[in-house]
Amino acid sequence: MNRNVAAEDLAIGAPYLRCIGCDSDVTAPTEDFACPACGDRLEVAYRGGGTADPGRLKSLWRERKLSAEPMDLSGVWRFREALPILPAGRDAVTLREGNTPIYRLSRCAKAAGVDALFAKHQGMNPTGSFKDTGMTTALSMARVKGFRWVGCASTGNTSASMAAYAAYAGMSALVLIPEGKIAWGKLSQSLDYAASTCQLKTDFDGCVRVLGEVIRRFPLYLLNSVNPYRLEGQKTTAYEMMEQLAWEPPDHVIVPGGNLGNSSALGKGFREMLAMGLISRLPKLSIIQAAGANPLVRSMREFAGERIEPVRAETRATAIRIGNPASWKKAVAVLRETGGACEDVSEEEIGVAKAEIGADGVGCEPASAVTLAGLKKLVRSGFVKPDESVVLVLTGHCLKDPEYTMDFHREGAAADATLRKPPVLLDADPGAVIDLLQRMET
Ligand code: F0G
Repeated sequence: MNRNVAAEDLAIGAPYLRCIGCDSDVTAPTEDFACPACGDRLEVAYRGGGTADPGRLKSLWRERKLSAEPMDLSGVWRFREALPILPAGRDAVTLREGNTPIYRLSRCAKAAGVDALFAKHQGMNPTGSFKDTGMTTALSMARVKGFRWVGCASTGNTSASMAAYAAYAGMSALVLIPEGKIAWGKLSQSLDYAASTCQLKTDFDGCVRVLGEVIRRFPLYLLNSVNPYRLEGQKTTAYEMMEQLAWEPPDHVIVPGGNLGNSSALGKGFREMLAMGLISRLPKLSIIQAAGANPLVRSMREFAGERIEPVRAETRATAIRIGNPASWKKAVAVLRETGGACEDVSEEEIGVAKAEIGADGVGCEPASAVTLAGLKKLVRSGFVKPDESVVLVLTGHCLKDPEYTMDFHREGAAADATLRKPPVLLDADPGAVIDLLQRMET
């Protein structure tokens, strides 16, 4: 047996694409992964799976940690019985994604008013964001389908990830990003990984529109999160989180919401694990947006999640500066199914939360910090109880956007004075340094 394929008797089933709107099987999706019949989004579904045997699955996945096979060293493909999407004999493009740590956040727990708080740090992936967990699956499918070019519109992390995986696979990558609204760390990655990078004079939503037209005229495989194979990889973060927590779900999982692919993917992972008997209940999955880019929050408040109105998005958490999220229907389903909350937080709250996560020695990029800012609100409203267990999903590494961090510490608002640690300029004199230490001790 090819050691890289899923154990057949344990696999979740044979994959096919299903429309989330009209429920039909879709064999020929449009270039942008819409249902040709009704235009709605697609998801990977499975039929005819083996008898779920949670005990055997858990030990098989644990055993693979001792293997030296690239597919087993990946924290995504290690769970391949839950994503048997590759045809037999085909290998994945993997940079050993996943395998990310769960940290305890002591200082942040106090700030939020909960007894214990944990962070699943997806910024510890190969290119510094959670996107790698979905890029390994979707880019592998691009190669299976024989594409030479892949492309995405991005606020910076998808493009960094796609550029790396495409380069590693020897494929060509087209990146469309909004001019001026992207963190330097992310833009530099796209260049370093040799992608063809275009800065368009528009925002993220405008980049999506342009790319939609490009793929109709040029054979390029779309790697935005409307690509359902992206979400299949990203869902394994939920599996890995449960394995790390001895398959005991926390009461709450909190994620940032931008284009709403990640919340949808994690929700799918938890739903499947429940169906397979790997876990016995669902955590409440809550989604937090920036107040200046909060179309889902508005949709839930004003239309009970039945429809969404795009907004003109503005936030310094540029990763989630998105006004017209592609996967909003899937995210609404996750909120309803898990009983999660949907909140938004101000720019000031994001800045403080990011500094607090940094001061715990963990650090993250601004978009990830909305989770802690949101948790504080949810504790205040009573939705999260102090003795409940909470896992924040930190989506990006703190080095992604150092400019944001520098600005906060150099010129942050007065309200943040206790958190601000600007660099101190001194003469090259031990006395001056000791002086400073003594002043800080008093
Ligand atoms: N956090 C970070 C660091 C992100 O980069 C993104 C999305 C999100 C959260 C939101 O996740 O879109 O699945 O709801 N970044 C995309 C990009 C849009 O192009 O890099 P989502």
